[in-house]
Amino acid sequence: GAPVEVDISSLAPGEMVTVEWRGKPVWILRRTPEMLASLKKTDGQVADPGSERNPDEFTPSYCINEARARKAEYLVAIGICTHLGCSPSTKFTPGPQPSLPDDWNGGFFCPCHGSTFDLAGRVFKNKPAPDNLVVPRHMYLSDTRILIG
Ligand code: FES
Repeated sequence: GAPVEVDISSLAPGEMVTVEWRGKPVWILRRTPEMLASLKKTDGQVADPGSERNPDEFTPSYCINEARARKAEYLVAIGICTHLGCSPSTKFTPGPQPSLPDDWNGGFFCPCHGSTFDLAGRVFKNKPAPDNLVVPRHMYLSDTRILIG
């Protein structure tokens, strides 16, 4: 499929937009400073904090960093669970929520078998999903335009 160009100029901090690329949902989440700070807290709780497993397949080399991003503010990830392909839902609000740990810092929750992911799409330990959410190839055409694919 052809690359998809996305205008992110109207995306406010804390907001997410979903676009379609190759028939798949791609999430673009503009993370707040608090959201980025939460990644430090989840470092020790996720299975592959450095995105070292299957580099290139799950995380392009230029996104192998804590934020899993070219620009830390924006997470670009394919919204498909790496377990059996369900669509995780967004649970950004930190704190106690049904089916999530009490110390939840925000992220994504897959309703099918309970995998949880942090705000960088990193899968928490001991969950059925084996890998972090896939970060697709992408680049910035300008400060407000991303090309996916
Ligand atoms: Fe997401 Fe199984 S498909 S946890």
